[in-house]
Amino acid sequence: MAIKRNSRPNNPPNNEDNAPQNQDSPKTKTARKSKAKSNKTTPKPSAENSHLLSPKTTREEIENSEEQIRPHRLADYIGQKELKGILNIAIAAAKGRQEPLDHLLLYGPPGLGKTTMSLILASEMGVNCKITAAPSLERPRDITGLLVNLQPGDILFIDEIHRLNRITEELLYPAMEDYRLDITIGKGQSAKTRSIPLPPFTLVGATTKVGLLTSPLRDRFGMIQRLRFYEPDELILIVKRTAAILKTIITEEGAAEIARRSRGTPRIANRLLRRVRDYVQVQQAESITEELAAEAMEIFDIDACGLDWTDRLVLKTMIEQFNGGPVGLEAVAASTGEDARTIEEVYEPYLLQIGYLNRTHRGRIATEKAYEHLGYQGRLF
Ligand SMILES: Nc1ncnc2c1ncn2[C@@H]1O[C@H](COP(=O)(O)OP(=O)(O)OP(=O)(O)O)[C@@H](O)[C@H]1O
Ligand SMILES: [Mg+2]
Repeated sequence: MAIKRNSRPNNPPNNEDNAPQNQDSPKTKTARKSKAKSNKTTPKPSAENSHLLSPKTTREEIENSEEQIRPHRLADYIGQKELKGILNIAIAAAKGRQEPLDHLLLYGPPGLGKTTMSLILASEMGVNCKITAAPSLERPRDITGLLVNLQPGDILFIDEIHRLNRITEELLYPAMEDYRLDITIGKGQSAKTRSIPLPPFTLVGATTKVGLLTSPLRDRFGMIQRLRFYEPDELILIVKRTAAILKTIITEEGAAEIARRSRGTPRIANRLLRRVRDYVQVQQAESITEELAAEAMEIFDIDACGLDWTDRLVLKTMIEQFNGGPVGLEAVAASTGEDARTIEEVYEPYLLQIGYLNRTHRGRIATEKAYEHLGYQGRLF
């Protein structure tokens, strides 16, 4: 199902998956551990804590309207300087020529601002943004219905674009290239192709797995841009901005404490802020300080680097059961009881980013930094 959306605020947010569930797993001890730091056995997180660090949207966020805190102008979009620079030029040029923007492919891990950027582009261009996701474009008429109803200049946002089926994808080729829809009527010998002109439009595709796109589709995007994990100072600005929208007082250090544990991801920063805000309110304190933020996150079992129970379980399993690797993703998944795709898409990107994990052609390896962080003395050989 596609959700029609204007570029203005107060519209319902798009639907996304819920956070993955953690499961317990057996563990064996084959590696030496050093002192207390991480030696304490961490209990399995409670249901409400287990999704705190998931970069995917939760049901609560959909219901509480993530929309309220989404930036609506390019100037309010924090970080991603390179991307903003390129898009600023593209917007000015397209407006000058009175043409739609070039088709844009945004890729990067979840929660970094792909949907937000697409909505911002629509509002900067003064057009509508129709939002859909590839898994809901099952039949040819799903995509044709969307395309024929576009207004000139509109943005069509397709999330998870790597999951398009072949027929839908082939319908998109002439649509993207020549603003034309080629429809086949009838079957076999009597089949005829009819071409329907479409209004000029912009396709914004988002994906967490750019490598899975076919090259004919990839080649039809005029701009292909990667979103990066955010730097701590950018996340501090995001936390402070959201706090102001939520009318919550926060100190600079309090914002920094939340930013540090947000895995470079704005969606997680905003979610942690909300949870810390609850804690501070219950404590009847007036503002979010570094101390209170740290206390709250200790309770949520999010460590100083932003790792949660599952991150630590993945690393511990690699270290204790596979001597730090190299180990295949499936083996880690089987031993931890986590879904392989969830490990790959949700947990690994950040562990790779902070250098706790390496991917080699022989499998995953836990790095020296991971050993140190978890309090192990070093790799066993
Ligand atoms: N650059 C930014 N500045 C301020 N807030 C941001 C920024 N990027 C994202 N956010 C906030 O983070 C949240 C998640 O962003 P968004 O939904 O755009 O992520 P996404 O990349 O589309 O994720 P997914 O891959 O799960 O669809 C939004 O609610 C938005 O408020
Ligand atoms: Mg999105």
